Amino acid sequence: VGVPFVSGIAGSTSTGEQLVSRVPLPRPYTLPFTVPPVLAPARSDAAGDHYEIVQRAAKVELLPGVPTEIWGYNGIFPGPTIVSRSGRPAVVRHRNELPVPVVVHLHGGRTPSSDDGYPTDLLMPVGAPAGQGDHMSGSHAGRMSDPAASISTGERDYRYPLRQRSATLWYHDHRMDFTGPSVWRGLAGFHLVGNAEEDALPLPRDDRDLPLMIADRAFGDDGSLLYPSLDPTLARPGVQAAYGSGVLGDVILVNGVPWPLAEVSATRHRLRLLNASNARRYRLALDPPPPGGGGLVQIGTDGGLLERPVRHDAIDLAPAQRYDVVVDFGAYRVGQEVTLINQFGTGSTEDVMRFRVARSGRDDTRIPDRLSRIPGLRPADALVTRTMRFQHDDVHGMAGWTINGQPFAPGLVHARARLDSVEIWRLTSDFHHPVHLHLAPFQVLSRGNSGPGPYDLGWKDTLDLRPAEQATIIVRFDGYTGRYVFHCHNLEHEDMAMMGNLVVF
Ligand code: C2O
Ligand code: CU
Repeated sequence: VGVPFVSGIAGSTSTGEQLVSRVPLPRPYTLPFTVPPVLAPARSDAAGDHYEIVQRAAKVELLPGVPTEIWGYNGIFPGPTIVSRSGRPAVVRHRNELPVPVVVHLHGGRTPSSDDGYPTDLLMPVGAPAGQGDHMSGSHAGRMSDPAASISTGERDYRYPLRQRSATLWYHDHRMDFTGPSVWRGLAGFHLVGNAEEDALPLPRDDRDLPLMIADRAFGDDGSLLYPSLDPTLARPGVQAAYGSGVLGDVILVNGVPWPLAEVSATRHRLRLLNASNARRYRLALDPPPPGGGGLVQIGTDGGLLERPVRHDAIDLAPAQRYDVVVDFGAYRVGQEVTLINQFGTGSTEDVMRFRVARSGRDDTRIPDRLSRIPGLRPADALVTRTMRFQHDDVHGMAGWTINGQPFAPGLVHARARLDSVEIWRLTSDFHHPVHLHLAPFQVLSRGNSGPGPYDLGWKDTLDLRPAEQATIIVRFDGYTGRYVFHCHNLEHEDMAMMGNLVVF
C-alpha cells in the first residue's frame, strides 16, 4: 500500500515553517496561470450526465523541467472540473488504476449515504483479488473493520442528485486513515454547480470566472512530492509529532502551478477560492489593495451565494473552505501588477499568485446588492443541542485527535439525528480545526461571545474553528437518511481519527 499508517503522524511533525523543498524552484510569478479542463460527459440522458474518470499515477511537470509523480483523476492535478446544474444528476464512473484503494467524496454535495464516499466504502484497484477489502488486518483491524462497508473492485458509479443550490464544490479522496497522503499526491478536483438564479445575476462569467485551487506542497530532490514533508527524525524528542499542525509545504500551487501569473483585462473577475491544502490556513489579500480598500468582494461561500455581497481587505481560508469573491481589476491601471498574498505565510508561503492587468476591457458586469435569499434557521426550532469537543488525545496508545475523546471507528456513532430535524452544535477546540459536516450545510450562530465572524456568513459546510474557541452552528439534517461523517478537515488530524459518525434516521 506504499504509505504506512503512521505516515500522517510522522508528517505532522511541526517545526514551524522550516521545511524546504530540495529541488530548484521556479521564481514566483513566472509560470502561466491555468484553469483545470472541464470534463465533457461521456453521455447525457434522462438519468443525468454521465462522466468517466480514471484514477491513475502520472508523471507531470509541476515544476518546469522536473517530472513529478502524482496520483490524479484522469492523471492530472487538479482533476478535471465537472460542471453541473442544480437538480440535474451527475453520475461519475470512477476506475481505480492506482496501487491503493480509493474513496471519492463530493465535498459540499447533498448525496445519499451510499454514494457519499464513506471512509470504508472502498473502491479497490482494478484486478485486486476478491477479499482485498479486508486488507485492514493487523493491529488496526479492530478499529477499521467495518461489516457495513460496501467494497467495489475496479470501477464504480457515484450518483449525485445535486438537489442543491449553485455552489463551488470539490471532490477528493476520503479513505479512512489515508486521506492526507492521497490528496497530497493529487486526488482533488472542482465540481461546480450552477443554476438559473445565479445565471440571472450580472456577475462575471466564462473566462472571467476563475476557479483557484490553492494547495501547498513540498518536493524532494528528485521532484517527488514529499509526504511527510519533514524528515521525522527532525522532530524534537519528547514532542509528540501528532500534536502538530499537519503536513505543510513550502511551495504554493494554484491549480497545480507554483505561484502562477495570470494576465487579466481591467474588468471584474470572479475568483472561486478553494483551500485544498492538507493543513495550511491562509489569509489572502491583494497587494497593493485597490484605492479605498475592500478589494475582495465576497459573493459566495461553501454553500453558494450570500444574501448580500461583503467587502473584505483579507479573507481567512481554512482547509476545504470556499470563498467566491469578485475583484475589480478596473480599479488598477493597465500594466499594473496585483499580487494575491498570504498574510499568514512566511518566506515562500507569503506568495500565492499574481495578476497582471494586461489590457483594458468592456465590462457590463456589476455586483448587485441582493444576491440570493438565505432563510435563517431558528434556534427555537432546534430539537437537540450537542457539544463536540475537538481535541488531541491518546488514541490506542498513540497520540491522535478525537471528538469528545472518541477516535473515529466505523461503528462508533457520535450523533443520531432525526431526518428533517434542526440541531444546534456547540464546537469547542484546543487548536485550529476546520470542522466539516457531510450532507447538511449549516449556519453559524456565534463565535465565542459574539455573533458569526466576518467569514461565517451564508451556508457553510466547513467552519474555521480556532484555538480555545467555542462556536455554535445550527443545521437541518434533511435530504437523506443513513450514515455520514463529520470531521476535522486538517487531513492529518482526520487521518489520526478526528472524525465522527453522524447517523440520520
Ligand atoms: Cu472534504 Cu469529509 O471531506
Ligand atoms: Cu483538526
